[in-house]
Amino acid sequence: MSVDESGLRKRLAELTLEEKVHLLSGADFWSLRPIPRIGLRKVVLSDGPSGIRGTAWDERSTSLLFPSPTALAATWDPEAAERVGRLNGAQARDKGVHVQLAPTINLHRTPLGGRHFENYSEDPLLTARIGVGFVKGVQSAGVAATVKHFVGNDSETDRMSYDATIDDATLDAVYMRPFEDAVKAGAWAVMAAYNRVNGTTMTENKALLTDVLKERWGFDGVLMSDWTAIRSTAASANAGMDLEMPGMPGNAWRDRLVEAVSGAEVAEELIDDKVLRILRLAARVGALEGFPEPAPVTTPPDAPAQLRALAARACVLLRNEGGALPLNVPRRLALIGPNAVRFSAQGGGSAHVNPEHVVSPVDGLRRALGGDTELTVHAGVYPHERLAALPLDMAADPETGEPGVRLEFIDADGAILDSEHREAARFLFFEGVPEGTAQIVVRTRVTPAADGVHTFAVAGVGEYDVRVADAAATVNLALAGGDPVEAMMRPPEHRVEVELAAGRAVPVELRRAYRAGSFLTAFGIGYHAPHLPEDEELAAAVEAARAADVAVVIVGTNDDVESEGFDRTTLALPGRQDELVSAVAAANPRTVVVVNAGAPVLMPWRDEVAAVLWAWLPGQEGGDAIADVLTGAAEPGGRLPTTFPVSEDGILSPTPGEDGTLPYAEGAAIGYRHYAPEQVAYPFGHGLGYTAWEYESLTVVDGTAEVTVRNTGDRPGREVVQCYASSDAVPLRLAGFAVAEAAAGERVTVRVPLDERLPGGCAVRAGRSIADLRLTA
Ligand code: BGC
Repeated sequence: MSVDESGLRKRLAELTLEEKVHLLSGADFWSLRPIPRIGLRKVVLSDGPSGIRGTAWDERSTSLLFPSPTALAATWDPEAAERVGRLNGAQARDKGVHVQLAPTINLHRTPLGGRHFENYSEDPLLTARIGVGFVKGVQSAGVAATVKHFVGNDSETDRMSYDATIDDATLDAVYMRPFEDAVKAGAWAVMAAYNRVNGTTMTENKALLTDVLKERWGFDGVLMSDWTAIRSTAASANAGMDLEMPGMPGNAWRDRLVEAVSGAEVAEELIDDKVLRILRLAARVGALEGFPEPAPVTTPPDAPAQLRALAARACVLLRNEGGALPLNVPRRLALIGPNAVRFSAQGGGSAHVNPEHVVSPVDGLRRALGGDTELTVHAGVYPHERLAALPLDMAADPETGEPGVRLEFIDADGAILDSEHREAARFLFFEGVPEGTAQIVVRTRVTPAADGVHTFAVAGVGEYDVRVADAAATVNLALAGGDPVEAMMRPPEHRVEVELAAGRAVPVELRRAYRAGSFLTAFGIGYHAPHLPEDEELAAAVEAARAADVAVVIVGTNDDVESEGFDRTTLALPGRQDELVSAVAAANPRTVVVVNAGAPVLMPWRDEVAAVLWAWLPGQEGGDAIADVLTGAAEPGGRLPTTFPVSEDGILSPTPGEDGTLPYAEGAAIGYRHYAPEQVAYPFGHGLGYTAWEYESLTVVDGTAEVTVRNTGDRPGREVVQCYASSDAVPLRLAGFAVAEAAAGERVTVRVPLDERLPGGCAVRAGRSIADLRLTA
């Protein structure tokens, strides 16, 4: 969107050097400094790709929780991405947010990457097209999209410092491709990564920031740092960074940058260019008076229905023997699995939002199947490293009696500085802790539902006094090292077991020492009700499967493993889930497995079960969406945007060497370009759907493939028509894709725009996945 540049220059001319420079560091965690004198209002930023969290990170500020970004990519539908982007933009407008810190368009270089679920795909073209759709959608609502993290932030281990060594051709064709397309499509903001690339930390990498991003690609928006990624003054400013985030004591810019300009280390014209970019952004998002405001947009009432349809459409049917799916309404259905009981609607880290509700698979299936089906529910195994948050329906605020807890901020003399009722058992503070606080106290009264041994836990780095009924403990919990985000997402935990009687309320109290100036304070109370030992629980689940007509096993990951600040250490499902699936499959031949995970896991049992449905981290409506697909009310329209390997042999490592380098020695050979056929469990592009397709003809004219397909099944369906290209010089790679929808028996022709970067002389092949190509031109 073009902006009246002379209007921006006029405002720039009214600012002092100090005002200009102070505009270039955040005012706080999530906003920029307003300057009312020139009509500049406060610009507000918010994470992230799973929804708009807003500036508060707690249950009092709820947001729509979208299916994880990889699920969006599994639609292979840039128009769907655009609609999702617009819905994000609408949420942002409702929350007073001007800049969304999304999409995340790094690549699935290794399936172990902690933020794999936040990224779209292993393929640069698919990532680019979905990313461009999302950016256009967000910005159509008058909100800036921020493509992140530029560049080489494809894994998390030592992300603040590792040095990704990437050859120029790979950088250009693979890792920078999605950024280039998003910038050329008009993205208004870019976030520079924490890591180094080829020896230079990204926030000082002039060659990539100024020479490539700004000059070669013509980026005219704001280049902001990842949170705390700027660690130098002149070097980062001269390299091309425009905005230091967040604003906090100890910022490397602010007064130091004023001095650097006064000392001629940084040219004032460069500062002016940065300020103009911030003013341009403010003008684009309606935060600069005198510039046209974007048209009003608000979250539509059918947003939950849209999220449900999207989550269903993203599901990938990996295997379906003998028409096991869709299910005929069974008389007895055994719902089994840890993720049936503790559903993973989203991954962890900065992408996390607080949804207003999450539909669990139990709720979804009960609703979909109706009263005629007897539904039993068993966790089967206990794979979680940490306890679930204390359920609030068993906790009462001792002051008001309402469900929830009492949270108090207490000073060194024991005086209460602030006291609030909270409907949460996990707490997170960046800011907002009253001055003088020496302790944060959580008090509640817990009424157990059953007799027996109840397990409570405090989770979080810091010093705590915990009391449950008569049991008390004083603990000091620390992390071995790691990322600050790890303290929040994967905190150490101390458990307290107490014997309690059903119906008899007991006091639970947690006191946490607090030191002024803490960057981040995160802690919570975990709980596990009395339960069977794991062997007995597993046996009970198998018995339930044996007695049922159908067993649906929901296995998966959780935010202990899929999160930010660390990578996964294995692709295996956590705990004894593989054993559970095999045992259930042996007990009931009609075993359907639903995998609730954001990133590939190993499925050693995949040939033992009737069907495997991959449901991703499907967001707030996930339980209904899974039920829609299981019962056939919706088509599993997804196709894999990333290769699922058979084993961990040969997968790329996310761990830098001792010298801190992470060599991308494989060059462009990631994902399907990396694996040998025998290493692949389910190939890139794979997904069955509920109907069958015949590929009838393929022609290529002027960079567009025309593919005619026929739905040969007996129900309407949705097909992702995929084109791949290869030549002697170019190994097989994705060249384009388009969605076809057809009624039973119907024939349709889709136009597939081919990658404009494709070299001449390639053969083009069309088919259902990279391993199922039907036609050649
Ligand atoms: C993440 C970013 C995020 C930022 C703000 C960083 O740790 O890497 O993706 O936008 O925090 O939450």
